[in-house]
This record gives sequence, C-alpha cells and structure tokens, in this order.
Amino acid sequence: MKGVILAGGLGTRLSPLTRITNKHLLPVHNEPMIYYPIKTLINAGIEDIMIVTGGNSAGDFLKLLRNGKDFGLKHLNYTYQDGEGGIADALSLVEHFADDEAICVVLGDNIIEGNIRSAAEAYERQGNGAKILLKDVPDPQRFGVPELDGSRVVQIEEKPSQPKSSYAVIGIYFYDSSVFDVIKTLVPSGRGELEITDVNNHYINRGEMTWDELEGWWTDAGTFESLLRASNMVAESGANKV
Ligand code: G1P
Repeated sequence: MKGVILAGGLGTRLSPLTRITNKHLLPVHNEPMIYYPIKTLINAGIEDIMIVTGGNSAGDFLKLLRNGKDFGLKHLNYTYQDGEGGIADALSLVEHFADDEAICVVLGDNIIEGNIRSAAEAYERQGNGAKILLKDVPDPQRFGVPELDGSRVVQIEEKPSQPKSSYAVIGIYFYDSSVFDVIKTLVPSGRGELEITDVNNHYINRGEMTWDELEGWWTDAGTFESLLRASNMVAESGANKV
C-alpha cells in the first residue's frame, strides 16, 4: 500500500498565520504539522509516500523534508495542486503515483495519539473497496458525520447541522484504485470543492465501505482552537505512539 498526505489548501481559517506560509508547516508543539501525518504512515508500515501541496510556500516542504532522511525514508514524492479544488481534487493528482495499488490517504492536519497499523492490516485483508476511521467527538457538526445502522455505515453527511451520530469521520482513509474513477464523477459542493465525503458515499452505495473506531486521541489542527488543542495534546501525552 502506498501513502498520500494532502497538504495543500489556503488554510483560510488560520489567516493571518497562513498568509505567508502553508498551514501544514505551522508548529504543533515542537514539530511542524506535516511531521505528524508522515509518522502516521510510517508507523503503519507505509514508506512510499506522496505529499500533495500547493500555494505560495510549496517549495518550503522540500527545504524542510528533503528526501525524508530524518524519518528513515530513502525518498519522498511531491506534487502540486493548483487552486482550491478540495480534498478529492487534490487526491486526483496521485493517480499516476498510485499505479493501481491501494492507498492510505491522510489529511495533513490530522494528528493521532496512537497508530493505524491494525486498521491498515484489516484493510489489506479486505482486499478492495474502502475503509474509514471514526472517532466519538463532542462537536460532530464540524466534520463528516456517519449515520450508523448497527455496524453498517448508511451514509456520511459533511458538516451537518443536525448530526445523525456523535462520530466524526477522521481524515485517514483507505481506498482501492477505483477511487480515481469515483473522483471523475464528482461535482463541486456548495463550498465549490470536490468533497471526500462524496467519494466515501460512493463506496457506501456500492456496499464496499468498512469502518473501524480509532483508539487514542485524534484532532485536526485547521482552526485556531484545534491548532492550540493539537499542541496541548502533543505536549501532554505525545503523538504517533507505536
Ligand atoms: C475534512 C473532511 C471531513 C473530515 C475532516 C477531518 O474537513 O471534509 O469530512 O471529517 O476533514 O479532519 P475540512 O477540514 O475540509 O473542513
């Protein structure tokens, strides 16, 4: 399985911090934000990694990460997303890199306490389709929210005002190579972006979606409140424990 980190976007919710740099280069406690999703993939045994970035400071990723040597990697891949097309648009850029293999996609502002090794292994056994990870949260309306029927996910709603469960769909996803054909069928949402939630609903409608509940804390870091929380969580209890 190959790994993809989505680290583009304008980070407007963190302006003015993001006026002169990319959100994923901002500090989370003692490390740049992008370090955490890289460790998430490596700890799951995924070392062939593509970083999708964008915006003005894209070159700074190369300065910071070089060829990934600090993480024990032999090589890192980079690509560039023009504009603000959304998460699924960014993902469409890695079709050539994926080369018909399954991929694990991590949103660059998602940080976890533990690791996703057991979910990655379960997905490998699953063989095709998709897998999402869920976390019980106090504020589901900020995220993609699943409607569950027993162990089955019925649909996902993006930032619903009346969430149908208390779970968030976290920004770590497993997809087979058909994900690129799914993306080609999408139309932009109300916020003008190709939504990852629409990709996930395609797999649900095909009966090819499974989910696991993530253990340990999880947070995004794309707002001032969550960026501060991420730093505090990392400082208090550490992240990416193996
Ligand atoms: C994105 C996804 C959302 C998901 C969240 C996790 O939201 O659209 O479904 O729950 O990431 O961090 P965004 O950060 O684009 O608002």
